[in-house]
Amino acid sequence: MCGIVAATASRNIVPVLIEGLTRLEYRGYDSAGIAVLNPTLTRLRSVGRVAELAAQAEGQVAHHGIAHTRWATHGVPSERNAHPHVSAGLAVVHNGIIENYAELKQELLAAGYVFTSDTDTEVIAHLIQETLKSDGDLFAAVRRATARLIGAYAIAVLREWDESLVVARHGAPLLLGLGEDGNYAASDASALLQVTRRMIYLEDGDIAELRRDAIRIVGAGGTAMRIPEDRAVHESTLSADDVELGEYTHYMQKEIFEQPQALAATLELIGGAQAVSPNLFGVAAPEMLSGLRSVLILACGTSFHAGLVARYWIEQLAGVPCSVEIASEYRYRASVANPEQLVVAISQSGETADTLASIKHAKAQGMGRTLAICNVPESAIVRECALRFLTRAGPEIGVASTKAFTTQLAALFLLAVTLARQAGRLSAEQEAGHLAALRHLPVAVQKVLALEPAIKAWAGRFADKQHALFLGRGHHYPIALEGALKLKEISYIHAEGYPAGELKHGPLALVDKNMPVISIAPNDALLEKLKSNLKEVAARGGELYVFADADSVFDEEAGLHVLRLPEHYGLLSPVLHVVPLQLLSYHVALVKGTDVDKPRNLAKSVTVE
Ligand code: F6R
Repeated sequence: MCGIVAATASRNIVPVLIEGLTRLEYRGYDSAGIAVLNPTLTRLRSVGRVAELAAQAEGQVAHHGIAHTRWATHGVPSERNAHPHVSAGLAVVHNGIIENYAELKQELLAAGYVFTSDTDTEVIAHLIQETLKSDGDLFAAVRRATARLIGAYAIAVLREWDESLVVARHGAPLLLGLGEDGNYAASDASALLQVTRRMIYLEDGDIAELRRDAIRIVGAGGTAMRIPEDRAVHESTLSADDVELGEYTHYMQKEIFEQPQALAATLELIGGAQAVSPNLFGVAAPEMLSGLRSVLILACGTSFHAGLVARYWIEQLAGVPCSVEIASEYRYRASVANPEQLVVAISQSGETADTLASIKHAKAQGMGRTLAICNVPESAIVRECALRFLTRAGPEIGVASTKAFTTQLAALFLLAVTLARQAGRLSAEQEAGHLAALRHLPVAVQKVLALEPAIKAWAGRFADKQHALFLGRGHHYPIALEGALKLKEISYIHAEGYPAGELKHGPLALVDKNMPVISIAPNDALLEKLKSNLKEVAARGGELYVFADADSVFDEEAGLHVLRLPEHYGLLSPVLHVVPLQLLSYHVALVKGTDVDKPRNLAKSVTVE
């Protein structure tokens, strides 16, 4: 989604802004722009790639500026809607959505302001300008103006002849970077690694003033925040290599192949232990996880699919009822609150607006036992929850989530084992066995990755198809959903995931020779039932692509293609079986020539509803 970079420094900050925007490209965007002071305002904007903006900005020198990548919400992608938006010498960039913008716009139109875009952001620019009439101080004006905004925002503001930059956040991420030669702000740490590792994460309601040699932060209540007592300075551990492509062509490809190391890094948290400790989830975990009656998992998209797999594990191992709900539904539903329930938010980014709001909603209903499973430390969702488990997948840049998903699964399996232990349902031997199986995952995933050439050979047969069906049963049903999501988001082929047993209740009507059917067929208790379901497809001329285990038995027949995973992996098998589906969608997208890392209309971090 939208990205912000802001800088005030003794060096020329134009290359810093451009490099920062390049680092934010992965979030998804359709246009980009910068505004710099020399000391009057120069604004440059372009639709399309940051590289086009960089060409326009060539030769510009400035010490003070703001920059933005836009993912359209209000108004089509176009230069006139690209940020920054200006109001007489004042410029604003904004992430988020202002819900009361229409009402504010009417008021500002009546006051004589002329609007040149369709965005909600332009309202902010004029509103600050209007506020400045009665209060000449930019910081004070931003405070008063933002107090009138309803919705989510992170903004950066600059104005001609002013030595300060002002930034503010409410419901959208924003952090400050403390550099040697100046101060910086961005919506994502990766944009600032080029100039500093010292970061302060702003909290909701914070407004900060940045000068070359000083910063000040005022919190939601209007009190000055002390640094580091009230707002800690973090040393970012992200490495520049983590966000480089290196030997790979696409981030998605890199991230698929990084899964063994992402899993190994995540599992370092258990070392060689033979038993789990609830402390893995935080100091309050032993108390919060004890005596649990049920679990509610809230998430969106791929993270939701991880939750669906976890339901099978939690109910089977721990005997604790578990429900999984899409966050955007839960947050607006009149559900029945259960304060004894553990509420688990799963999110790669930790900033997904709906997941964050769903946790707030649960807490507002008295459900205080909250756990975040997240890949980004200090993110809003992590800070909102009482307990946390941080996956160590490293930055995920490709829009399609891959390594974040498999590390989420590892974390959720640990949760299931922990709850099973708390419930006294595991012998020491069983517990040690589960942990050993987890520790073996990086090696097992590595072996699955070796199937890439065979999967690539299949990909060409999908590229001209309009639709595809993914089937799975049991704890592989969510993997069928995930396989379908991966294929549709990056190759734009319409795909559906179904529990195989549901086929004859409707989707079988779609099956013909033009409908490839992909099936996950591990050698588990449901294999024979699944095979009967696949016969129903074969009988209708459907082309079957089956991902089986080394020991799943299939008779050869026309229209049936089988690829075997090297190991049969029991309960943790979904972690292995998702990998060939990620590779399949990647290679189909390559054949189709789509933008793998930045699929159309999608964004990496969904910070708006
Ligand atoms: C799909 C994908 C999305 C995200 C979803 C939630 O490949 O990446 O479906 O899983 O937007 O994002 P997080 O996990 O950041 O909350």
